[in-house]
Amino acid sequence: MFPSFRKWFIVAASLILGLVSLQFIPAEPSASWNKDTPVYLVLSALGEPAPNHTTSAYSPEMVEMGRQLVYDGKAKGGKYISKYYLCTNCHNMAIEDPSIKVMDDPEARLDYVQQTNQKFKQATTFYGMVNRESYYNDDYIIKYGDAVKWANNNLRNAIQLCATGCAQGRRLNDEEMEAVLSFCWSLGYNMKDLNLTQQEWDQLKLDASESDRQEELRNMLKSKYALKSPATFSEPPHDKKAGYENLTGDASRGEVIYELSCMDCHKDQGVSRLVLDKSSFSLGMLKRNLFKNSRFSLYEIARHGTHPGKGHKAYMPHFTLERMSHQQVEDLRAYIEAGS
Ligand code: HEC
Ligand code: HEC
Repeated sequence: MFPSFRKWFIVAASLILGLVSLQFIPAEPSASWNKDTPVYLVLSALGEPAPNHTTSAYSPEMVEMGRQLVYDGKAKGGKYISKYYLCTNCHNMAIEDPSIKVMDDPEARLDYVQQTNQKFKQATTFYGMVNRESYYNDDYIIKYGDAVKWANNNLRNAIQLCATGCAQGRRLNDEEMEAVLSFCWSLGYNMKDLNLTQQEWDQLKLDASESDRQEELRNMLKSKYALKSPATFSEPPHDKKAGYENLTGDASRGEVIYELSCMDCHKDQGVSRLVLDKSSFSLGMLKRNLFKNSRFSLYEIARHGTHPGKGHKAYMPHFTLERMSHQQVEDLRAYIEAGS
């Protein structure tokens, strides 16, 4: 196929067939639902309208292409999305919280990512992304306004915004977009992720075809997971020396955060030119800058990150309160002060 036709075809197909094909989904009888049934199929059978990020381009090949774009930064023969970043530098790809209902408990998340061999990151996991109903929420909208509003209710736009804005890369073409979306659909919640009780399962199967019960059942399912990833921006403490009020840092927790977060990006050959390890050189540098008004102060860097500079455009995203608590910043401080 000629590239332009192919492009047209994919766009037209995702718009037209996407709607058509989803209307056929409710045909699946509730009796066949099990723990591996995708949640969106069940919702759809219960009358939920198709989200606008439905894609009819979905196929195992497209999922694989999307996986390569996300993990390797490009698909076979293609151009890198970004020369600085991979999506995986800032996002986990599996469930990262002990309860998928709770996306604002970074203390619980730290234990969970440690147990599941993941990293402690600034951005939310791709797992369940297609099940969320809005993106770049709360302070992202309040503080950045129109720059992120276009992505708030549209996952394609959120992906495009992050590829260009967060990863400091280029826009995805139409085929790449449907591939990344397909990959995201492959990471949608399945029924087992919702941990329904036996009673809830029975109710669901029994009442699924009764139209006056469907809304209630949809709401029951949606109450089992967070519909958005909340975001609250935060500031360094007023008096850095005193730190965040009434909190005492735990150096051993701090060490875990340092390993699973800071050192992952700041390793040798990592995404930053600044190498951070457990040497007294790294820790001493952080310690000397702790109370300063400097980008090298832990408080400033955790809460503000950096902005892309001239030439070298990789920058560090800040940690919202949902992604790192004040307590965790104090834990890091305690580790830095003890370790240097
Ligand atoms: C430099 C770090 C960074 C990189 C690289 C990055 N992201 Fe993000 N991304 C973020 C941050 C920070 C957010 C803010 C919202 C959140 O997830 O809490 C975000 C949000 C998103 C969201 C909206 C999630 C939500 O629930 O609000 C999507 C979708 C997304 N990114 C896709 C991608 C894709 C696709 C790539 C790779 C092409 C990518 N990101 C690369 C940092 C990054
Ligand atoms: C997602 C990747 C990522 C994570 C996680 C991360 N950083 Fe960064 N950090 C960067 C990038 C990129 C820069 C930009 C500096 C550069 O150009 O190399 C940076 C900059 C910095 C700077 C300032 C350097 C300068 O030149 O201004 C400090 C200090 C720093 N990070 C410390 C930390 C600490 C401490 C943590 C853990 C709490 C951390 N970083 C977590 C990617 C990351």
